[in-house]
Amino acid sequence: MTTDYYRWAGPLIRKLPPEAAHRAAILALRSGLVPPAPTVEHPSLEVNLWGLRFPNPVGLAAGFDKNAEVPDPLLGQGFGFVEVGSVTPRAQPGNPKPRMFRLIEDQAIVNRMGFNNQGMEAMAARLAVRSRAGILGVNLGKNKDTEDAAADYEKGAARLAPYADYLVINVSSPNTPGLRALQNPDQLATLVRRTRGALDTATDLSKRPPLLLKIAPDLVEGDLADIAQVALGGALDGLIVSNTTVARPETLLSVHARESGGLSGAPLFDPSTQVLRRMFRLTKGRLPLIGVGGISSGLDAYVKIRAGASLVQLYSALVYAGTGLVERINRDLIRLLARDGFASIAEAVGADQRAVRR
Ligand SMILES: Cc1cc2nc3c(=O)[nH]c(=O)nc-3n(C[C@H](O)[C@H](O)[C@H](O)COP(=O)(O)O)c2cc1C
Repeated sequence: MTTDYYRWAGPLIRKLPPEAAHRAAILALRSGLVPPAPTVEHPSLEVNLWGLRFPNPVGLAAGFDKNAEVPDPLLGQGFGFVEVGSVTPRAQPGNPKPRMFRLIEDQAIVNRMGFNNQGMEAMAARLAVRSRAGILGVNLGKNKDTEDAAADYEKGAARLAPYADYLVINVSSPNTPGLRALQNPDQLATLVRRTRGALDTATDLSKRPPLLLKIAPDLVEGDLADIAQVALGGALDGLIVSNTTVARPETLLSVHARESGGLSGAPLFDPSTQVLRRMFRLTKGRLPLIGVGGISSGLDAYVKIRAGASLVQLYSALVYAGTGLVERINRDLIRLLARDGFASIAEAVGADQRAVRR
């Protein structure tokens, strides 16, 4: 069992510096050293969205498998779906190391990786030889030195659409200068329109993957309303809420709390869930939302679903608990849904804000 594996491997991996530990985890997955975990399947866990059948709603968030080196071994760890990237058109090294920090006392991570990745051609080559079992999202970013940001998303969308079950425009990482400014309404509308255009030109209508936008948790109310307008305008098929935060709650205890970059993990749970709840209201429950940020239990996942998420994702909690967590979250979700009389995830989506549903 994965859980048992992590009981001895976890402490060893965590003795390494964070980035080395991450590399070790990728290599272990690639070489088959990590035993697969069962994908929990239960009628109440199944989610049908965008013509896709998600066996369960728990996905791996972007940033772990930036180069699509191990999507299938990751799917074998029980995730309902896996998102690879962020990938940029050209390879780039990212920021100087160290650029990833464990805030152990806070069950959190700070990272300022800066989209280190091997570029879209390397990713396309890997995905082209994949068997296509299991749902895979591709998260797109822009190169640090690209002036015309939209051109990078156009390139990424056109090149990787054939291999993606869904695509994500990521404009919310705090570690690429100017990136988050793309969330401003004027820029965003153009960016989304151009990316959509490139996608439509590159793919048959019948094979075109849904296009999602991933947003920051640090947006103010006015920004959220504008983004909701763009999203409801029809060019987007969903939103991912949220990326890491540049905020630093007073409550943080770790010596690494003041490192610059994006904070993820437990302290992100409340702020990202608030933005999710707000987005569900602003989009009137009409647009599928993926809830991310600080999930480390079945109850956390359930709170996101009740706040408006049709699917959830996680990353940071895996650093502390290992992939055995995925199975535990799914088993707890089955129990929580049954407790509250929901026959499916879909029935529970936005249950805390029923009044706003159509
Ligand atoms: C080390 C690290 C790297 C990340 N890289 C990316 C990335 O490349 N693209 C992206 O959209 N999100 C990235 N994220 C953000 C996660 O996908 C997720 O939105 C965030 O960590 C909140 O979820 P969590 O609290 O479960 O970790 C990264 C997060 C971490 C910890």
